Amino acid sequence: MVSDQISKKVVVLGTGGTIAGTAQSASDNIGYTAAQVGVAQLLDGVPGLPAVLQGHDLCTEQVAQVDSKDMRFDIWLALAQRVVHHLAQAEVSAVVITHGTDTLEETAYFLHAVLPQDLISAKPVVLTCAMRPASALNPDGPQNLMDAVTVALTPGSHGVVAVCAGTVHGGLDVQKAHTYKVDAFTSGDAGPLAYVEEAQVRLLRKWPLAQVNKGHVAIKDILKDEVWPRVEIVMNYAGCDGQVVLAMLQPRDSVAPLRGLVVAGTGNGTLHHDLERALRQAVQSGVKVVRSTRCANGRVLPVADSEFAHSEDLSPVKARIALMLGLMSR
Ligand code: SIN
Repeated sequence: MVSDQISKKVVVLGTGGTIAGTAQSASDNIGYTAAQVGVAQLLDGVPGLPAVLQGHDLCTEQVAQVDSKDMRFDIWLALAQRVVHHLAQAEVSAVVITHGTDTLEETAYFLHAVLPQDLISAKPVVLTCAMRPASALNPDGPQNLMDAVTVALTPGSHGVVAVCAGTVHGGLDVQKAHTYKVDAFTSGDAGPLAYVEEAQVRLLRKWPLAQVNKGHVAIKDILKDEVWPRVEIVMNYAGCDGQVVLAMLQPRDSVAPLRGLVVAGTGNGTLHHDLERALRQAVQSGVKVVRSTRCANGRVLPVADSEFAHSEDLSPVKARIALMLGLMSR
């Protein structure tokens, strides 16, 4: 268990993203290169931070420097290990992570699924990001960083959460929903967890619980040097004939065999009958199939007699992570 000693430090782990991006011109909000500025330098550019830090020290560590579209499993593992290392220190109150917006929801879910319950039910892990590069005329990163630290130091805050544009989302629910607006995230049906209003957190529902039993995988069980189980995502759409699934079932040199498929079905995870037939063939070949939905909101409800598992409230990208982790822990 985490002890009750006085905590005096906030650790900020940098992983890259637009928040650390730069463009040739300050008026360019899209033609930039992500992951250019180090996390320590980013924090130097936030003048209001000392006020929200309430006397806490700020420590930084650059865990990675990537555009999050290029996120990798080895970075996830290193990130989870560094979060555990820091949260286990009595003097650390919270960990903040700077991250690209594009796969933030995947990293948030991964951390939610693997971080030890005793740590994240006592302290928060707060992911934050920006939609505009650090070099923009009006960057959103500095305010998001201030808000993330505010959330991190709010009494009682815990679990994996994400902060963007003044809204706090649970790691389980957060989803990027807009291509360029600064308020790019939603919590879907679940609704936001809280708002940050002028350095005050207005909590709307309970801080997220750690993932126990259902889908929790210990970090020690995550594969380190081996290839993670290959799980792909396919989608249902008009005219979908399932050929892509059949192609994936064919063994190929130097490509890991397919272990799982998440299907982003239509509506409540419904499938074109040709796709369904191909997915049944995948199951017969030993591939685990999980039915999810391409709808942005709502959960997939179980249907009687389905041969496929269902993703419940996980989006396709999160269901894929759950399936990879599940296959690893078997
Ligand atoms: C990224 O995800 O790293 C680039 C895009 C962004 O952060 O908005």
